[in-house]
Amino acid sequence: MISSLRGMNDILSDDYKRFTYFISTATKIAQRYGFHFIETPLLEETALFKRSVGESSDIVGKEMYQFIDKGENDVCLRPEGTAGVVRAFIQKKLDRAGGIHRFFYHGAMFRYERPQKGRLRQFHQFGVESFGVDSVYEDASMIMMVSDILKTLGIGYRLQLNSLGCNECMPPYRQKLIKFVKECVGNICEDCIRRVDTNPIRVLDCKNGSCQELYVGAPKLLHNLCSGCNDDFDTLKKILENNGIEYEVNTNLVRGLDYYSKTAFEFVSDNIGSQSAIAGGGRYDRLVEFLDGRPTPAVGFAMGIERLMELIVMPETKKEGYYIGAMDDEALDLAVKIAHQKRNSDVVLIDYKTKNLKNHLKAADKENVKYCAIIGSNEMKDGTIWVKNLEDKTEQTLLLEDF
Ligand code: HAM
Repeated sequence: MISSLRGMNDILSDDYKRFTYFISTATKIAQRYGFHFIETPLLEETALFKRSVGESSDIVGKEMYQFIDKGENDVCLRPEGTAGVVRAFIQKKLDRAGGIHRFFYHGAMFRYERPQKGRLRQFHQFGVESFGVDSVYEDASMIMMVSDILKTLGIGYRLQLNSLGCNECMPPYRQKLIKFVKECVGNICEDCIRRVDTNPIRVLDCKNGSCQELYVGAPKLLHNLCSGCNDDFDTLKKILENNGIEYEVNTNLVRGLDYYSKTAFEFVSDNIGSQSAIAGGGRYDRLVEFLDGRPTPAVGFAMGIERLMELIVMPETKKEGYYIGAMDDEALDLAVKIAHQKRNSDVVLIDYKTKNLKNHLKAADKENVKYCAIIGSNEMKDGTIWVKNLEDKTEQTLLLEDF
């Protein structure tokens, strides 16, 4: 038997109900915030992710599904959604059009990580990207949107916030941090030694316990922000407080993708084990320009659908639609015709096996439909159909034209 690849799951049955319920709920809420659907390809040029997510990130360094295609192009399966949306935004010249453009998307992402509970190689994200708003109010509105989605789905969360500064305050901070980390070199892990030269702020979220102990004393970017970034961060916190959204400031939250500046946030759940991040995002004002577009402020987030599926409180499913059954072969053709007409407006299931009434009722009960409708030779003669409401258990015989 051929099985699915490690870390790549099928989604069906009950999981599929959770999956589609998540997407329809998140879609409705994103639309209320003025976002429009965008679909981008699963396969992109590798250079897109190298330049946006960053060569020094784990995603690009270790986790990409990268290959040379039959036309000798260096391509890879998208590890995340932002880069493709930014590429589409520039390719459609929306950066030149100016104004505000807001998109949402959902789909499969691919990262060659070590699979474990909550960590897949093919997983699904729901994400939004907003272009053209240079105001921290938009950052707050992203956070409010995630919070609305999670609350609607009955999911509790902790929100962690940080600011990653801008071109003015990040470079001098980076120098201070490099100096600090270099002093610790004898006592830190290999990954951190490498990061000092490639992407020093990533040392702050090193998972190694002894590194973390050392970094408690590291200079904090939040204490080294320029006045503009500082004011924005204070405003962001005030907006969240005004809207009843609780947060924790986490000075070590640096995110695993290189394109962020200023606001960075992550939503975590305490109920799904070690892979606890259920959504993450932030501002990325430099990325459009970095990918050769006109400078455009931007902010967004993405949510991990598989992690959320475990946490969703599903609404009670109501019985819905019809089961139509025939008592004999002659009635079957008429049953098929009636089902075809009724499907203009309703869910209709039909059993092609002729059965007695008791067995049809049993089969209808299993399908969770509201009505069981049966046609036999008497009904054929009278032009009627027998219908039982499986919720209130009432029965009636209706003329076919009234069904
Ligand atoms: P990210 O934090 O890499 O951000 O991913 C967002 C979410 O995807 C995570 O919080 C997690 O729930 C889920 N996720 C990530 N990796 C896996 C995995 N291997 N298995 C299962 N779920 C996973 C981004 O991707 C950014 N593009 C978010 C963004 C949009 N920032 C601005 N706009």
